[in-house]
Amino acid sequence: MKPKVYVTRELPERGMKIIKERFDAEVWPEYGPPPKQVIIEKARNVDALVTLLSDKIDAEVFDAAPSLKIIAQMAVGYDNIDVEEATRRGIYVTNTPGVLTETTADFTWALMMAVARRVVEADRYVREGKWKVGWHPSMLLGRDVYGATLGIVGAGRIGTAVARRAKCFNMKILYYDVVPNPQLEKETGAKFVDLDTLLKESDFISIHVPLTKETYHLINAEKLKLVKKTAYLINTARGPIVDEKALYEALKEGRLAGAALDVFEQEPTPIDNPLLKLDNVVVAPHIASASYETRSRMAEMVAENLVAFFEGRVPPNLVNPDVVKVRAPVKLI
Ligand code: GLV
Repeated sequence: MKPKVYVTRELPERGMKIIKERFDAEVWPEYGPPPKQVIIEKARNVDALVTLLSDKIDAEVFDAAPSLKIIAQMAVGYDNIDVEEATRRGIYVTNTPGVLTETTADFTWALMMAVARRVVEADRYVREGKWKVGWHPSMLLGRDVYGATLGIVGAGRIGTAVARRAKCFNMKILYYDVVPNPQLEKETGAKFVDLDTLLKESDFISIHVPLTKETYHLINAEKLKLVKKTAYLINTARGPIVDEKALYEALKEGRLAGAALDVFEQEPTPIDNPLLKLDNVVVAPHIASASYETRSRMAEMVAENLVAFFEGRVPPNLVNPDVVKVRAPVKLI
């Protein structure tokens, strides 16, 4: 009998095809996420769950799922999953790292350029009929990205890919992380500094840390007091790393020039989020990895992780390696 898998959304074809062929798979058919209660119900007799970052997977789900052995997440981040609890219960957790690095760095760059050069505002300006004078020396002035100082918070794969782009723009690169990254320094000339120095000296601050207890509201009211009035904040990591209320205050009071946000404390962000009222804020609906190529490969990686586990191998993208001590992968296919 094929292992049972519940998939919380239709994935791109490349991954879905493998999952449907190799497993007894059921897929949540709607565009929006299944309610938690549905996940709990469906988890009752499955061997595996395929999840997205918007599915909260915690002890309540595990309690209902005695035969659950692996959660294959289609994302690099997995803060929606209680990994510690999963490990304790011998449940494998996998993610899809690497493949989305350059795609996410590209989008970070797009947001940075958009907010600094007021691309979205300019688009609205033209469409709304505000363009009455052909050319004016002070129309829609922005800030140069080329040659500016970029502060990268989190020097992992994506932070490093952003730094490589910055090098081509002749930027001075500062970075902060819990440990230095000598490879990043060698490749891009980036300088390791503490977070406060980074915030004080950067013209662009880009967030690339995972969301953890330690990084929750890492950028808060106190930290935002340190930034230059002419600086921009870009967040393509996770919303709760930035205290949105404090960010709004800083922007409104002119203590920060602008922000570009792909992620929010609550997603979807409510339409009355005051940040959406500000012209110097560029927003996107959590799409930094959303290219056809990358999403397709992410789905395929999900399938590869499942196949490896049920062929009795340790999955290639295991995020909780300690789980191996609790349970060995099971050969069911
Ligand atoms: C997207 O945010 C991801 O974690 O892959």
